[in-house]
Order: sequence, then C-alpha cells, then structure tokens
Amino acid sequence: MKKRKIFVCEACGTQFFQWQGQCPICKQWGKIKESVQGDDKQRITKAKFYPLDSIVSDKDFFVSSGSKIFDTFLGQGFMPGSVILLGGEPGIGKSTLLLQLLSSFSKQGKNSLYISGEESLEQIKQRADRLGVKNKNLFIANANTLDSLLNFMDSLEEGTLISIDSIQTMIDPEIDGIAGSVSQVKSVSSRLIEEAKMRKHILFLVSHVTKEGQIAGPKLMEHMVDVVLYLEGDKQYQFRVLRSVKNRYGSSSNILVLNMSDKGLQIVNDPTTFFLKTRDPLSSGSAIVMTVEGQWAFAIEIQALVIKTSLSFPRRTALGFDINRLHLLLAILEKKLNITFFDRDVYVKIGGGMRLKDPGLDLGIVMAILSSYFDKPVPERAIFWGEVDLNGQVRSTIKEDIRLLNAYQLKYNPIVFPATEKKDQNKGLFPLVNISHLIDMLNTW
Ligand code: TYD
Ligand code: MG
Repeated sequence: MKKRKIFVCEACGTQFFQWQGQCPICKQWGKIKESVQGDDKQRITKAKFYPLDSIVSDKDFFVSSGSKIFDTFLGQGFMPGSVILLGGEPGIGKSTLLLQLLSSFSKQGKNSLYISGEESLEQIKQRADRLGVKNKNLFIANANTLDSLLNFMDSLEEGTLISIDSIQTMIDPEIDGIAGSVSQVKSVSSRLIEEAKMRKHILFLVSHVTKEGQIAGPKLMEHMVDVVLYLEGDKQYQFRVLRSVKNRYGSSSNILVLNMSDKGLQIVNDPTTFFLKTRDPLSSGSAIVMTVEGQWAFAIEIQALVIKTSLSFPRRTALGFDINRLHLLLAILEKKLNITFFDRDVYVKIGGGMRLKDPGLDLGIVMAILSSYFDKPVPERAIFWGEVDLNGQVRSTIKEDIRLLNAYQLKYNPIVFPATEKKDQNKGLFPLVNISHLIDMLNTW
C-alpha cells in the first residue's frame, strides 16, 4: 500500500499536512510529529458493497467467558472477532483482572494468550501464583513489536482470547514516534483490530489512562473497538468498579463491583449493601441514599459536616461528587428554607470512596447537610433519593422502580422519594413518604 506523509499532534491526535511548531487545536508546543497514512484512493477502489439480506448473522455465536456474571455484564459473553478496550489508571488492577479473566476462559478448555510488554514472564508467573491461576491452556508471552503480535495472532486457532498489556508499550517500526505516541497507538491498534476480526480472535487491548494526557490514552481508541471497559476506583479502598461505556453487543451502562483482595479481584455478586459497612446510625450528618449505577441500585451513605467557619470565605468540600452540585444545593436551602450558610464551612462526602453522578443523590445530600446543621440524627432506617431542582422541588429520577424495590427488600423505613402519579397505588403497602418539595421534607422529619 502506498504511504503518504502526514503530521500528527501527539497530544490531541489532530492531523495536518504541514509541520507546525504549535498545535493550533490544543495549543501545545513541539508535539506535532511526522507520520504516514495509507493512500486513500487505492483503498477506495477496493471497497465493495453487499445487499443487506445476503449477510448471515449468527445470533448464537457468542462464547462464554467462563463466568456467568461476566457474560451477563457483557451481554451474552464474548463475540469472536471482537475487540475490547480495557482502560484505567496505572496500578488499578487491569493486569490482575485480565489474568483472572483469561484463566476462567481457559478453564473451559479453550486457549488464551496473555502478551505483556511491561512485565517479564517471571513477574507474570509470580502474579499468577498469587492469584492461584494454573492452567495448561493459558499461555504467556513477552512482546513489544507489531510483527510479533501479528505472528502470534496468525499462529493461534480461531476464537483464542488474546490480551495485549498494554497498547502503549507496542511499536510498529514502520511508523515514526515513540511507543505510546498517538501515531503509534493508532497504527498498532488498527492493525491488531483488523487482524483479530479476520482471524476471529477475541482481543483485549489494555490502555493506561494518564493524567497529563502526554501518552495517547484509551479515548483515542474508543471509536475503533467494539466494547470499552474502564476499571475505576480509589487505590486506598479495596473495591473497584468495572464500567462498560460502549458495547456493540449489550448494554453500555453496566457495572460490575469488584473487591481487590490479596488473591486478586472478586466479583461482588450483590453490591446492594456493599458500601454501607461501617456506619454509625446515631450520629448526625449521615443519610442513606438508594442510588443507581448501571444496572444496579445500591444503598450508600452520605456524610456531611457543617461547622462555624473561621475564614472570610467559608469552605465547601465535596468528595465523590461534583462540587457545583453542593454550591447549588446550599443556594437552594438558603433561598427556599431560609437556612444560611455564609458563616459555615460545609464538607460532604460519599461513603466508601465511590464517585457518583446520580442526580437522585440530591435529596440525601440535603438531608445529611440538614442533619449536621441541626445536629439531629436522621432516623436510623430512613432512605432517600430524588433530584432537587432550583425551586426546591423534588423530582423523580431514572429507575424509580428498582430503587423502590431494593429499598423495600432491605426493609428501609421510611422510604422518602419524589411524589409521582403512581404514589396512590403504593399507599399502605410500604412505609413510603412521597415528597414534592424540600419544605415537605422538613415537615415530615
Ligand atoms: P495491576 O493489575 O498490576 O494494575 P495495572 O495493570 O492496572 O497497572 O495491579 C496492581 C495492584 O494490585 C498492586 O498495587 C497490587 C494489587 N494487587 C492486590 O491487591 N492483590 C492481588 O492479588 C494482586 C495480583 C495485585
Ligand atoms: Mg498492568
């Protein structure tokens, strides 16, 4: 294939026909590097189109990952010829998770290959011993060049599970740029994806998320792959959340809660109360929320501390959610409930180190703040959810039914949530309190 010279900014990935000192898009200096691109005209002449009806799709083509929960998380398991991107910060547990996944896949008698460009075979073996991974169908290899990866893929039988850890350590010598640069990551991953589809392998590509964005991260590859998973969490805590943000074969908003132990990552089968362990129900400034993440609804504690400030600008801290929401809720409390915070520091934290975006947290945040402000504990078994709008009205949020079902099953009492048209149907059945405005909440407390 004829190659054409282009220039690519290693920081943001924009392509140019001429070299420039500063990237006009991301404004960084010295990041534009020479690269090559295939001749588009040649490619166009080879392209073909087909009648839709002539394509045979086999619905039962999925293969099990070896773990039922993981299959459900993905949809129906792995699709041969598909590519899964696994992103996450360095040290979060990506390599650990992959080794365990490969092991459980190979327990079914199928081959899998773990290719590392970061660790020696001895290091991988040490980790495998620690995890108790032992399997004659699981192979490991060291490699750093595209050629050797393609060779491996070529020599393996169809449907092998291959993981490449990480894409940022792999290099195509024909392309300019150091390993991990935008041009390398783009070129290497597109060749690997092409090969995986042709050979019907299941391919995992690991990509590190870096804060500075100096190295080309997973965002660059999201559009090329079939499934995008992120492993998240706070390294100080033991739990990790595996989140699917794109999935061509299943739901793109599923999560799996995992627990990191000294024997690797274990799936938490039911995370409904997983984050609630050490709560003191008698202290003020604490409220429980039934929150929703992906397919799960789980109870989580919100803690607030409201104290007299000694600063001219009172301090506001939000751990685990957007600080702007805290500012907004405090402004609503001032305006609608006449509670002033100009002389108070307000600290709010989501329990267990979780980071959440659920708008339904609002009511729980407000409740924890009020509880600390008045130094009055919230009823021990109370649970809350609901979005608070700028007028102080409490609005219903997504997945009310699953929140309600879980709160009921866990025997919370009262269950305080937004008033909806359905409320009359529930009357008398559950200890429900439907509220439509923050003022109602103060009255019912
Ligand atoms: P790792 O999988 O190497 O992370 P990544 O590939 O995302 O960079 O995980 C590294 C961390 O996980 C390391 O700090 C040790 C911890 N760990 C455990 O807690 N238990 C285990 O069984 C293993 C293998 C690792
Ligand atoms: Mg690793």
